Amino acid sequence: MKATYLGFLASLVFLNAQAQHKTIGQRADSIIHLMTLEEKIGQMNQYTGDWQATGPITPDGDKQNQIRKGMLGSMLNVTGAAHTREIQEMAMQSRLKIPLLFGLDVIHGYRTTFPIPLAEAASWDTAAIRLSAHIAAKEAAAAGIHWTFAPMVDIARDPRWGRVMEGAGEDPFLGSQIAIARVTGFQGTRLGSTDAVMACAKHFAAYGAAIGGRDYNAVDMSDQTLWNVYLPPFKAAAEAGAATFMNSFNSLNGIPASGNAYLQRTILKGDWKFQGFVVSDWGSISEMVNHGYAKDNTQAAEEAVTAGSDMDMEGRAYIGCLAELVRSGKVKESIIDEAVKRILVKKLELGLFENPYKFCDSAKEQSQWNDAANLQVAKMMAERSIVLLKNQQGLLPLSKQTKTIALIGPLMKSVRDNLGFWSFAWPDDTTRIITQYDGIQKKVGAGTHLLYAQGCGIKDTSTAGFSEAIQAAAQADVVIVSVGEAGNMSGEAKSRSNIHLPGVQEELIKALCATGKPVVVLINAGRPLVFNWTADHAPAIVYTWFLGTEAGDAIADVLFGDYNPSGKLPISFPRSEGQIPIYYNHFNTGRPAHGDAPAPYTSGYLDLPNSPQYAFGYGLSYTNFSYSGLKLDKNQVHSGQDIQVTVQVSNTGNYDGEETAQLYIRDIVSQPVRPVKELKAFQKVWLKKGETKTITFTLTSKDLSFYDNDLHFSFQPGDFKVFVGGNSQDVKEAGFTLLDQ
Ligand code: BGC
Repeated sequence: MKATYLGFLASLVFLNAQAQHKTIGQRADSIIHLMTLEEKIGQMNQYTGDWQATGPITPDGDKQNQIRKGMLGSMLNVTGAAHTREIQEMAMQSRLKIPLLFGLDVIHGYRTTFPIPLAEAASWDTAAIRLSAHIAAKEAAAAGIHWTFAPMVDIARDPRWGRVMEGAGEDPFLGSQIAIARVTGFQGTRLGSTDAVMACAKHFAAYGAAIGGRDYNAVDMSDQTLWNVYLPPFKAAAEAGAATFMNSFNSLNGIPASGNAYLQRTILKGDWKFQGFVVSDWGSISEMVNHGYAKDNTQAAEEAVTAGSDMDMEGRAYIGCLAELVRSGKVKESIIDEAVKRILVKKLELGLFENPYKFCDSAKEQSQWNDAANLQVAKMMAERSIVLLKNQQGLLPLSKQTKTIALIGPLMKSVRDNLGFWSFAWPDDTTRIITQYDGIQKKVGAGTHLLYAQGCGIKDTSTAGFSEAIQAAAQADVVIVSVGEAGNMSGEAKSRSNIHLPGVQEELIKALCATGKPVVVLINAGRPLVFNWTADHAPAIVYTWFLGTEAGDAIADVLFGDYNPSGKLPISFPRSEGQIPIYYNHFNTGRPAHGDAPAPYTSGYLDLPNSPQYAFGYGLSYTNFSYSGLKLDKNQVHSGQDIQVTVQVSNTGNYDGEETAQLYIRDIVSQPVRPVKELKAFQKVWLKKGETKTITFTLTSKDLSFYDNDLHFSFQPGDFKVFVGGNSQDVKEAGFTLLDQ
């Protein structure tokens, strides 16, 4: 009798879920109507699987039972078509057969690893970034994944923070364009396609401004900085249709993000009308107890749900405490219903009620597994992510006919380091990942003799291996030395106070340069590093970040001229940790320091220039580009009028190549004050050797607007400067006056 009744209920849920004449919202309401309070809270509960741990796991032998009882809405870190099917089958044994969501940190690829997100940002190529996210989604979706915890759209001005590798750098405009590319890449044209996954814009909000660059640390920030710098990429992600948001570990002005109603209810779900759901970060709801914001899990759950956190990731505060909070009247059931509705709507949009196994297709998983086309895109993305920092006397590109090359350095033969943090380990990694050594070897062919010596390990303090490296260098026509951080020295909980090249690596570069041979330095890192001696003395420097599965081939293409580097830094490179936080879009101050030798009583350092070692937007090519004829179509504009900005870009060097033209503005007088430069547009332009093209940017009143101290988004009349160039420092300048409001 009971079984028959349960069967009846389940079919009712399916009927309700599938009813054609109802909107998805109405279908969710009908399901909620059938749910007990415990089942509703179950939907707001997410546990990790055991496939890989990305945080401190709470041991729990009872998970399977809880799934069968409908006490779980989602799992993370469970993957594979077969494994997700097995667990979904458990959920299908629950009373209402509500399917689980499977989430995973598919940050820069799944089976195929793409460059780390910061590296991809250096491409300034939103179409390529969208494609990379799309392929990551395709591979993950074929393995049963519905939802990626990406993109991370946190602005980061502090390279000590290890998670700088996971975002798009320091600029709100570039960060917003890349946020849109990633959200639309992951989600495709519509949720429910088995080639797409739900995106999750994270970490909401201001996580990138952790004090001292120390991960998980508190954030203290003005509203003006929050709204003008840190929120824009989130707003862009919401407008691009991001299905979910993740809140963050940090407190913001004393209120933990998970319990922050201003962020989640007022801004996200209120002002921005976000219709998706918000998942907490790992344990961040119960961590409000550690913050000293809640006295126990019960209070933490109450604060979080009231503030708009819809799902509790591995924190167990909701599953443990919410039911009692509702029964005691402290939390209204309508708040629970709202959260559950947001979650069910996404499950309905994904089509999981019609077919809970639609993403568990082993045949498709197999076909995606070794799709060579995906590797081709990874290589293209990796080439476009590389930044050429220095190339004295055209040392690069190297000739493929070079007789002898010495390949040196701790990262030259590294395998997994090439993937960087947030990547998956596959059994065949050693054969699939193209090391830098292998890439170079394939490129030069049999006529070139390669010598190899490691020189030192990444963190070594001993110089014992130097002599072998020096010997190899002495016999070579050219030396390529690959140095940097290990792949796991940046990422979550990977803050560093010292961001110099680790160990004795810079000493190794000095020793190699002392041989008098031309030395090409490859720097692998998940953040800007400090390497001043190298910057001043090595003839060629290539910043390779961590480029993924195809790293070696992409690097070889650049070194030997099959790809002319086009990357531009998405983040400023400091000369010393003492300059941090360092960013190009700073305020002018009352006593600005002009140049790198500031006059007394101006805003500078006694022992350091203010300028970065390498500026935001900087990156060389094997050819040269010059800018001329910067023109505005009007010098005076009325509010609402657009301004057309034209400029000629010429390729004056000896190679075909691609330039990223960047447009910045400065609002000269405003209240509150505005930065000395703000990126407002960029365009990639391909120019044949000797070619000139005229490019046009359109500046709109939105580009001139900002949030004032009352948080009104508007522009103020007055004079503006317009700068156009190939980086944030070397620019041509023009100006206009905005006449009225
Ligand atoms: C990270 C998130 C991540 C989550 C799940 C947390 O520790 O901060 O970015 O998505 O773990 O792995």
